[in-house]
Amino acid sequence: MLVPSAPVRGPRRSSGLDSLVSNMTNAPIPNNGRGNWGSRFAFVLAAAGSAIGLGNIWRFPVSVSEGGGGAFLLIYLFCVAVVALPVMLAEMVVGRAGEKNPVGAMRHLKPKSPWFLFGALGVLTGVIILSFYSVIAGWTIYYVIEAARGTFQPDTDTEALFENMAASGGIELLFHAVFMILTIVVVAAGVRKGIERTVKILMPLFFVLLVVLMLRALTLPGAAEGIAFYLKPDFSQITGGIWVMAIGQAFFSLSLGMGAMITYGSYLNKQENLPVSAACVAGADTLIAILAGLIIFPAIFFAGMTPGGGGPALVFITLPQIFAQMPWAPYGGMLFGVAFFVLLGVAALTSAISLLEVVVAHMVDDWKWNRRKSAWILGGVIYVIGIPSALSLGAVPALSGFLGIMDGIANYTLVIGGLGLALFVGWGWGLGHALAEIREGTPGFRLAKVWSVLIRYVAPAAITVILGNQIFQLVRKMIAGF
Ligand code: TRP
Repeated sequence: MLVPSAPVRGPRRSSGLDSLVSNMTNAPIPNNGRGNWGSRFAFVLAAAGSAIGLGNIWRFPVSVSEGGGGAFLLIYLFCVAVVALPVMLAEMVVGRAGEKNPVGAMRHLKPKSPWFLFGALGVLTGVIILSFYSVIAGWTIYYVIEAARGTFQPDTDTEALFENMAASGGIELLFHAVFMILTIVVVAAGVRKGIERTVKILMPLFFVLLVVLMLRALTLPGAAEGIAFYLKPDFSQITGGIWVMAIGQAFFSLSLGMGAMITYGSYLNKQENLPVSAACVAGADTLIAILAGLIIFPAIFFAGMTPGGGGPALVFITLPQIFAQMPWAPYGGMLFGVAFFVLLGVAALTSAISLLEVVVAHMVDDWKWNRRKSAWILGGVIYVIGIPSALSLGAVPALSGFLGIMDGIANYTLVIGGLGLALFVGWGWGLGHALAEIREGTPGFRLAKVWSVLIRYVAPAAITVILGNQIFQLVRKMIAGF
């Protein structure tokens, strides 16, 4: 995660040393008035921090279980490789070339054309996603407290635990607020050196903890059934709807389709190797998602549940089952429970920051608001928009399902945003410009041809077929309903 470096006003710097010096002296170097990453790796770290989050641990297993298991996994991997990865590179390129948020960048690269509307859709999508993302991230804070109190015992009814939390409007609103405030504080401050350092330590720790949990999960009774469900493809289950879920999940998990990578790319210097960065971020994110599946599915079968009906709560009900089975009860469960939910909360925070950053960057770049004011006002508005989601899991029955609906809307708008971006880079702005921008940092970009074909034809065609089929089905259903 990481946000643009401290609001230092300096020209694009090519070395970490320059930015370190200007950060220390806070020298007002004249420039475009925007931040800059502190080091070459800060960007990859920030982009990976954005990608790795609740999408991997919470949303991915839910999608797999609703999508029927192994076949979904294969479709997901296909979508990542063929559509999402090329789009990720395209976003980074547009950001670095346009030096602005999605709206500003598209306007800058292709003035007096309506392409920027895709950027605007992205900013709106950021608002929608963050509104419910913050609710779920709030649960991680609540679960840290529960884990610390030693709640996760072998005989704990984790379903009841979750439902009690979800049904309490007060708890939901409180933790939604706590998480949103954390997000706002970080974005308002710009990047602190401390955050970069913290993430460098916490992300690897998160990975180690996931591997340990995976080992525990794989040795639980029932693990084999879970693994079979997760890894054995059953293609008879595949529908057009599952393709939409898979591609939407790929965009969500990799933080694509709303300009997060455009915005982060805009704080980048020209030396960065964009294709390698994109591949690292996508690879790390996919690895973590696959790992999460190896934890959740054994746990589901161990707990005697069936995948498919879990809904948004899935992870928060199944994971505590594993903590309850840690050695040295109750301390083993406490330790792992606290560590896991703290790290999940951090991973969520590094993602939420990128969501708010897009919206804030838009106000700062295009409306000349100040960063601090934008962060607090927009964060507050997004909090309010998130209230119905927070109350939709039991607190207010009339709102039941609202969070899922917001999530479902985002699934579509992200994919539409991705389509717009691919078309913009492939046709609107132009591949020649994009390739020239990539070559600034990667003179020998060997996959230029492959990427050009993917971004120009394959990605737009795949998205159009997947979305088109779904819309066709919807229309058919509506007609049949008359
Ligand atoms: N990718 C993050 C996750 O997996 C969520 C996220 C952050 C996101 N920024 C985004 C999703 C931009 C879509 C677009 O949790």
